[in-house]
Amino acid sequence: MTRTVILDTDPGIDDAMALLYLARHPDIALHSVTTVFGNGPVDMTARNAAFLVDRFALGVPVYRGAEAPLAGDRHVPALKVHGEDGLGDTGLAADFVPMLSAKPAWQHLVDTILANPGQITIVAIAPLTNLALALRHRPDIAGLVDEVIVMGGAFGRAGRHGNIRPNAEANFFYDPLAADMVLAADWRVSVVGLDVTTDCIVTSRQAQALARSSEAGAFLFAVSRGYEQIYRDFDGIDGFCSHDVAAAVLLTDPQLFETEEQALRVDTSAGLEGHARILDQSERALGRRRRQRIGVRVDGRAVVETWFNVIGADHAVQAANAGSRHGTPKERR
Ligand code: BDR
Ligand code: CA
Repeated sequence: MTRTVILDTDPGIDDAMALLYLARHPDIALHSVTTVFGNGPVDMTARNAAFLVDRFALGVPVYRGAEAPLAGDRHVPALKVHGEDGLGDTGLAADFVPMLSAKPAWQHLVDTILANPGQITIVAIAPLTNLALALRHRPDIAGLVDEVIVMGGAFGRAGRHGNIRPNAEANFFYDPLAADMVLAADWRVSVVGLDVTTDCIVTSRQAQALARSSEAGAFLFAVSRGYEQIYRDFDGIDGFCSHDVAAAVLLTDPQLFETEEQALRVDTSAGLEGHARILDQSERALGRRRRQRIGVRVDGRAVVETWFNVIGADHAVQAANAGSRHGTPKERR
């Protein structure tokens, strides 16, 4: 069955990896791309998304979205994991003049969902501000969306809690209020947090094979050199985590994940912003929250192979996959 997808993103290295995967997957019809601040200011992430769409002739419109969280100022991370330009400091998109659709991202989400009831899946791999704004303007869209798949948070499984703060993952930390609204809304949400995405490691050997496999593979290899180095320096792994890819693969290959249905909350209080929690029974009764699906275990190696098979599988990639062995990163930045 073909799933029609709007990708909400902040490219971003792993965002670019997820975008190309969804655009090329035979069972996915990529409808459009909405962008938001996160891995950089929204003008940069929107430009990068439009650049990727143009460079790989994806033929979908790109919408500029929120430039700041629902409350407070945009957090500017000290460590630029994705490079100053969001594409690994390659400068590839520096001179690109984006053709962006005039509507704001939230409005595009609302209009598209209303026009296609039950048909749209949103894959959200960035701060959730655009989705929250869409819900604020039209709460009724929640009942009209097929599914929302989110990369965000860390629920303490396998001891993992944060990559920005000890208890907060980046996408939730950058807009905790929006994240909490999205998890609380009356729609079907599936979340992959650091609990599972840190097991989805592209080894440096796999990355080198990818570089030789296809044009997209060569591009993704080029933009991910600094990203991989940061994982080597900070987490001591020989490769990098493909967080956003995990969300895309959850949509296409859910059998690779073990999931649970849980009521969830994202903390918005000072000092605990972005802390994602599974509610216990007493809290659930108080809050009457809908249970959402979270990934608690994953076959990370199979996720990466699944992604490779779409982006640029060839014999070199298969051989590198056969030899892949990796540890697990601590995720600190
Ligand atoms: C998330 O934060 C961003 O840096 C990545 O693109 C991913 O969406 C991981 O915490
Ligand atoms: Ca992202």
